[in-house]
Amino acid sequence: MKFFLDTADLKEIEEAASWGALAGVTTNPTLYARIGGKLADFHAHIKRICDIVDGPVSAESVAMTRDEIIRDGRELASIAPNVVVKIPAMVEGLAACRALADEGIRVNMTLCFTVPQAILAARAGARYISPFVGRFDDISEDGIAQLSDVVTAINNYDFSESTVAGEQIEIIAASIRSANHVTQAALMGADIATVPFATLKKCIQHPLTDRGLEAFLKDWEKVQ
Ligand code: E4P
Repeated sequence: MKFFLDTADLKEIEEAASWGALAGVTTNPTLYARIGGKLADFHAHIKRICDIVDGPVSAESVAMTRDEIIRDGRELASIAPNVVVKIPAMVEGLAACRALADEGIRVNMTLCFTVPQAILAARAGARYISPFVGRFDDISEDGIAQLSDVVTAINNYDFSESTVAGEQIEIIAASIRSANHVTQAALMGADIATVPFATLKKCIQHPLTDRGLEAFLKDWEKVQ
């Protein structure tokens, strides 16, 4: 499984990239608003992220009609070669996804909650599909079970003739809220987990690691 960072915060991205295990970044309008981003600076901000991270950087279109999404998608894709256009799972989004994929532009279909949404996204040429885990948990449903269904269904088929350059679709476990979500996503074979900075930090921490380290350091003092 690869790790993406789910943020628009440049400091977080720089810090996580320096750990040597970061494969990409996902942003969304909420994450951009959270850092005080402004529309006029949006493309420049995405470029800054692309300059830090080698891998795919998802930038979301907030347009609601296929023509506007396609126009948005082309503009976003022109920012840098590693931009992936994030489009919500909806009818207009599917149509725009197909058109952009046919032009060689990679799409991440977001706000994906069900197996039919995921399969339609795959058939429409999405390169990445983002099932949301935590938001299911928020409404007292089992987000991990839903993600598992999507992983199984997508892996049942070969979608390579739908995608840009016949690339394999990758499933991004999104709306990740805990290290346990990451564990479950990895066990079921989700390709990527996109994780908020604080949660990613928790993924490398464990009280037994801390306790073990403390004991090693104490014992090391004895051999000085
Ligand atoms: C995915 O790409 C989204 O940006 C994100 O994972 C949404 O997570 P949230 O439900 O915590 O807002």
